[in-house]
Amino acid sequence: MPADRHKQTSKYTADRGMPGAFEGETVTRRRFMEAVTHGAGGIAAAAFGLPALGFAIGPIFKRQPFQWQIIGTTHDFSETAYVTKTITIVEGIGEAGKSIAYVRKRNPAIDNQGPQDQWDQYIALSSRCMHLGCPVRYVEAAERFICPCHGGVYNFRGEVAGGPPVRPLDRFYTYSPPAGHPGHGYVYLGPRYSVNSELQRFSPRDPGEPLDGIGQYLYPARASTAIRPSIANLPLPPTIPGTGS
Ligand code: FES
Repeated sequence: MPADRHKQTSKYTADRGMPGAFEGETVTRRRFMEAVTHGAGGIAAAAFGLPALGFAIGPIFKRQPFQWQIIGTTHDFSETAYVTKTITIVEGIGEAGKSIAYVRKRNPAIDNQGPQDQWDQYIALSSRCMHLGCPVRYVEAAERFICPCHGGVYNFRGEVAGGPPVRPLDRFYTYSPPAGHPGHGYVYLGPRYSVNSELQRFSPRDPGEPLDGIGQYLYPARASTAIRPSIANLPLPPTIPGTGS
């Protein structure tokens, strides 16, 4: 019995009675070739898969610096009409880094969905269509945003009212310092964020990427100031014109 037990636990294939075993061999040639083949297959899969994975999730870890920018005074905006503002979305590249935002004052009777805090007392909508990114145009008479490319239509709150867009228009954080604070009287525009159909905030996504249901997990956030924008992490507007503060 002790001798049998020794044979069963031996590291030599010949002792274990394996077919085709050689004296002094610890791994059969078949097992060895299997391991080599699997290893080579794994390396080949990683060579193709890792760059693709990095390309897909890399932007999640990318941080894009942003600067609060002044888009007007509190008197420039009303609750009932959008004002078109030219904004800078990429610094240092001139006109190519500029875009359009549609801005109005928050109206509690209309804007009763999504977060309601100090970061959206002014509603600032991106002009980028959430189908393929064409610039939308606000038609005041209809109180609709119309996309000229494929007929996308958004309502007054920027929600999809028709056509192929997959989610509401993106928004920008806004901030207006309260009385007694530096910058009081000005309206600042901060980083962009995306919203789902309930106007809940998400890190910015690209056009064509829905955020409802499983969609929020399928598409990684694009370069952003935060993976999940936390209002607590947003820096306050740094410069006040004319005061140097
Ligand atoms: S890009 Fe706007 S509807 Fe297609």
